[in-house]
Amino acid sequence: MWPCRNAHAIYTRLRPLLLLTNCGSTSKLATSSSVVASLLTSRKLALYTCKLQNMAGTVGVGFLVTVVAAVMASLLAGAAAGGPLSTGFYSKTCPNVQSIVRMGMAQAVAAEARMGASILRMFFHDCFVNGCDASILLDDTASFTGEKNAGPNANSVRGYEVIDAIKAQVEASCNATVSCADILALAARDAVNLLGGPTWTVYLGRRDALTASQSAANANLPGPGSSLATLITMFGNKGLSPRDMTALSGAHTIGQARCSTFRDRIYNDANIDPVLASLRQQTCPQSGGDDTLAPIDAQTPAAFDNAYYRNLMRRQGLFHSDQELFNGGSQDALVKKYSGNAGMFAADFVKAMVRMGAISPLTGPQGEVRLNCRKVN
Ligand code: HEM
Repeated sequence: MWPCRNAHAIYTRLRPLLLLTNCGSTSKLATSSSVVASLLTSRKLALYTCKLQNMAGTVGVGFLVTVVAAVMASLLAGAAAGGPLSTGFYSKTCPNVQSIVRMGMAQAVAAEARMGASILRMFFHDCFVNGCDASILLDDTASFTGEKNAGPNANSVRGYEVIDAIKAQVEASCNATVSCADILALAARDAVNLLGGPTWTVYLGRRDALTASQSAANANLPGPGSSLATLITMFGNKGLSPRDMTALSGAHTIGQARCSTFRDRIYNDANIDPVLASLRQQTCPQSGGDDTLAPIDAQTPAAFDNAYYRNLMRRQGLFHSDQELFNGGSQDALVKKYSGNAGMFAADFVKAMVRMGAISPLTGPQGEVRLNCRKVN
């Protein structure tokens, strides 16, 4: 016996969704899919729809299915944002972790604004190489060659000692509890906010890798000469959309770059503002001076704003890969929108950071909570 008219029809039409959510429940969608599954399997959903029917009078089955499906979709979207991670992961075990990280980052950014940029980039380079597992922080050992000396990281990624200092303070407050991967995720969030950018709630519960891979770092991180197609593919490989990629690239509104990373562009690209090209050529010669620095966003290099997109529209992207986002291709319209709408950029950047932060985390019994971020326990 079904509890009211139409209940069986509703159950039948929602069953495919149940199966879909169960597929996800083995990994990222565990929490909400089990809620949805219990609703459906126990026929509570059918009862619930009867209540809805009584409240709203007689409405069509189609309408009810739409309403319930929308509720489920929003539940799933919420869970998908953080995957198996959660926002209150340390609320009982290390309630002060967020303020310790914030204070450590505030000190580091006050001492040198660029450090905010460096920590944000470190998080990106961690997440794109076998997931956000703090593998980038591991020093080389006899048994593996780590990521620090991979092409995109060597003599380039900086800020390891900032994470070490924060980790020491976190350990002093809550021993063997908070992973280096989570500290890095929080530090990256605070870096953006301390430089004037948005803030957001960080999903937590990542564990630390037991190994690191130089070859994976060389293979997974896009280079500054990348084409739009390559960027879309490489971000797509990590489950990130072209829109996520374009929003995340807005991180190039802060920080510095070495001459060796933009030399080709300032001497050989046709789609560069000649004023910017000749300005950069003054300190970045055709040979030598590889490590001379230039701001990536010449306008406001220490402010997290949307100036990056305005630069692109003036052909002032510093990397070839930056200018690919506004060069007559699929991302032009979005660049234009972000350039005129700081709020839209900030909202999309936050969403994309949460998604990037959920790339293949180690959770539960996987990995470990490292005591020293540079080496496995
Ligand atoms: C879209 C593909 C990307 C490419 C090709 C790329 C490439 C680069 C390169 C070549 C540098 C200069 C490194 C050096 O000179 O040593 C750089 C710096 C930087 N990148 Fe990216 N990047 C990309 C995406 C991202 C993303 C997704 C983020 C963060 C969400 C990010 C954040 C940064 C920051 C903040 C800096 C400045 C770091 C500092 O001053 O220490 N980049 N990037």
